[in-house]
Amino acid sequence: MPTPKLNYLVDILMAISFIIIILTALNSQRGGLHSTFGWIFVALVILHFLLHWKWVISITSNFFKK
Ligand code: HEM
Repeated sequence: MPTPKLNYLVDILMAISFIIIILTALNSQRGGLHSTFGWIFVALVILHFLLHWKWVISITSNFFKK
């Protein structure tokens, strides 16, 4: 799958997971929707960072340049 489409899919899934996390946060139970989508969200955030790793490195090295 081309990267822009993969990025788009990852970000849409992150947005949907985030909405479910917030809507289920107040009556959260172990193994329920909140914790399930909470862990899915954590995995998607890590994947999002990996897909933009070059960007992270270049912004960070620019930031510390004199
Ligand atoms: C980005 C926002 C959030 C993420 C990614 C997130 C993620 C998670 C995860 C992964 C767990 C399961 C922990 C485990 O396996 O032991 C969890 C549990 C819990 N979260 Fe969140 N959470 C978020 C926001 C909130 C908010 C705003 C509230 C309350 C207003 C909340 C209340 C709880 C409670 C009470 C539990 C324990 C019960 C359970 O395991 O479902 N969370 N959360």
